[in-house]
Amino acid sequence: MSELSEKVAIVTGGSRGIGLAVSQELARAGCTLAIIGRNKKRVDSAVASLSNNGHQAYTCDVSDSVDTLNIVKLINNEFGSVDILVNNAGITKDNLFIRMTEEDWDDVINVNLKGAFNMTKALARNMMKRRAGVIINITSVVGLTGNPGQANYAASKAGLIGFTKSIAQELAPRGVRCNAIAPGFIDTDMTAELDDETVKELHSRIPMGHLGRPSDVADLVRFLAGPAAHYITGQIISVDGGMVM
Ligand code: NAI
Repeated sequence: MSELSEKVAIVTGGSRGIGLAVSQELARAGCTLAIIGRNKKRVDSAVASLSNNGHQAYTCDVSDSVDTLNIVKLINNEFGSVDILVNNAGITKDNLFIRMTEEDWDDVINVNLKGAFNMTKALARNMMKRRAGVIINITSVVGLTGNPGQANYAASKAGLIGFTKSIAQELAPRGVRCNAIAPGFIDTDMTAELDDETVKELHSRIPMGHLGRPSDVADLVRFLAGPAAHYITGQIISVDGGMVM
């Protein structure tokens, strides 16, 4: 029996990249997954790629509080309750601040930060009642350091760090843990948008000399979700090849 057998986990943005690797790793650890994404075809194929049965795909925009509440109701009806929430859905809309539009700002904050608020809000009461639950937020090293051209994204990820620490303090007495993972640069569709010059420059800033893999983040999610992490809450753990120390 694996350490997360009989646990139910929601992964937002679980249809590709880091979210897909997290879903696959949690399935290997014994979880039943509810994968949330925006694209029905992609979420269905993510579910089909998982190692055992009983997983379900859901389409929902996490920035929409009504949509989110409805999906969580559906998931609770299907699975009874949810043990693990991974707030992974995220977008970038990079631009130098002087050229950044209000829409670029709102879109990124609404998905990356408000999305985590919406999902956590929809699930926390039930976790507190059951005196058990794990919330893992995927932030970014950019939330720790800032980054030119990413004022909106860095603010959303820094916000997620404050959110994580506050939720951890409020929910710890009720048996619910909340931690965040700050990936450095991970090889996914998000970083595939970067030009060769930028990637070369990035490599030079990473002591380990290469980008990370989605599975590097997924391995830490599995650890934080499991019983070995039972005394860990409110932490922001980087997975970045040594980029930020
Ligand atoms: P990705 O772009 O490959 O995947 C993002 C996922 O989020 C997709 O499945 C997408 O459908 C979903 N999503 C986006 N907006 C959504 C919404 N409104 N509602 C529901 N789902 C939505 O990105 P990647 O690289 O896998 O990133 C995953 C997370 O890790 C993000 O939060 C990102 O900010 C964070 N991260 C990624 C890094 C990287 O280098 N790839 C570095 C640091 C953090």
